Amino acid sequence: MFVLDHHGPEALYAQLSRQLRERVLSGVLPSGAKLPSVRELAGELSVSRNTVESAYLELDAEGYIHARARSGYFVSDLEHETVPRMAGHASESEPGTGQEPGPRTESNRRFDFHPAGLDQDSFPAPLWRKYYLECLRESARDLVRYGHGQGEPELRQALALYLERSRGVACSAGQILVCAGLQHALGLVAALVRDTHPRVGVENPGYFLARSVLRTNCLEAVPIPVGPGGMDLDALKASSCRAAYVTPSHQFPLGQVMPVGARLRLIDWARAGGNVIIEDDYDSELRYQGKPIPSLQGLAPDADIVYLGTFSKVLSPALRISYMVLPHPLLARFRELLRHQQPAASLLEQRTLARFMAHGHFDRHIRRVRTRFREKHNALLHAVASHFGERAEIIGQGAGLHVVLRVPGLEIGEAELIRRASRAGIRLFPFSETLDGGGDWDGRLLLGFGAMSLPEIDEATHLLSGICLGRA
Ligand SMILES: Cc1ncc(COP(=O)(O)O)c(C=O)c1O
Repeated sequence: MFVLDHHGPEALYAQLSRQLRERVLSGVLPSGAKLPSVRELAGELSVSRNTVESAYLELDAEGYIHARARSGYFVSDLEHETVPRMAGHASESEPGTGQEPGPRTESNRRFDFHPAGLDQDSFPAPLWRKYYLECLRESARDLVRYGHGQGEPELRQALALYLERSRGVACSAGQILVCAGLQHALGLVAALVRDTHPRVGVENPGYFLARSVLRTNCLEAVPIPVGPGGMDLDALKASSCRAAYVTPSHQFPLGQVMPVGARLRLIDWARAGGNVIIEDDYDSELRYQGKPIPSLQGLAPDADIVYLGTFSKVLSPALRISYMVLPHPLLARFRELLRHQQPAASLLEQRTLARFMAHGHFDRHIRRVRTRFREKHNALLHAVASHFGERAEIIGQGAGLHVVLRVPGLEIGEAELIRRASRAGIRLFPFSETLDGGGDWDGRLLLGFGAMSLPEIDEATHLLSGICLGRA
């Protein structure tokens, strides 16, 4: 509801655009939300269409909203997470208000630095279609019943072979659970360890979703600082945590590899205290310099290490297929506690994937995307060097789908930087989301390069350097 003062000094269109801007910034109007048509809103507020049109045009020019041909105006994605909610506005996405936030639309963003984005052409659509249709034809009987609770046996077989060969993970197909992403997998782990290991050390900075999933599943997620060798083991020991969530092969977000000495000490900690390590090996297929880093689990298959992996980084985050390898004691607990679990991933997608792997396509696909993402990674490093010069440093290069860029001496805060970038058509993901308990973002930006083409990477970095270095 907009309240316009027809007798005040401020023009009606300016009042309206101010109030709309506030609602967008506070998240009351979520990204993707459709605005009322000019005619509707003018009628509702008893003002001329010109007034509404002028307000919309102003907000469009500032990047808060955007027009879509023949569809009207929509709220742009401003990464609300970074913008504090303003008091006095109930969010329309809160329960009971009857509206859901619209889907995240990136249509107004030409450049997407999201750390988990892939480009559309990297997905092997023709082969996927072929195997999917084959599986559909052959699975008629199975489509009318539930699949295996741990995931389709042929996919788990293919995974066991792949993990042994490429990640040094020692496991049988029986230890594998096919999951629907990290959120699902960690939720299951939480159920398995809640009674025995209720305090979990999590890397700080670290993966925000892991932290929040543990907390929403009633575990205590204790932030443990990350040093040059990954999670600080002394701090972990001092925290009296009984479990640790780590990303040892490519620390998220800083990118370092946990050296073997630190891995062995972490394993000792787990063995000596009956503690559990949750190893998130989310993107280790994508290493561009040096040799691939074998998993922590492979160093000590008998220790209580839960190994998590995903198809999101190399195949598609939309498939929602990931996997988890459980150590034997937790597998026994799973069978005792969660034996009635239904499979979380679609039977057809699982079978399609199993077939894709069994025919050798997954290995070929990985080689192909590794080359593709290596080029993008190198293009980003090159673009940073040429557009930022000495004014910025890259942290954590050489792997995955993102790097961290640190720009010392920035004159604006993170939220303002993200807003300005957004106005320039650039989607940035806030580094501060990786920090637990409000640490300093320290001029660091998470730059994902997977979603953009090589020319886009260069252009986006150029624009970003203008914003950061005060040229824009
Ligand atoms: C650290 C980390 N772990 C895991 C994942 C993958 O999660 P999912 O399998 O739910 O897509 C991501 C995705 O960005 C990630 O950054």
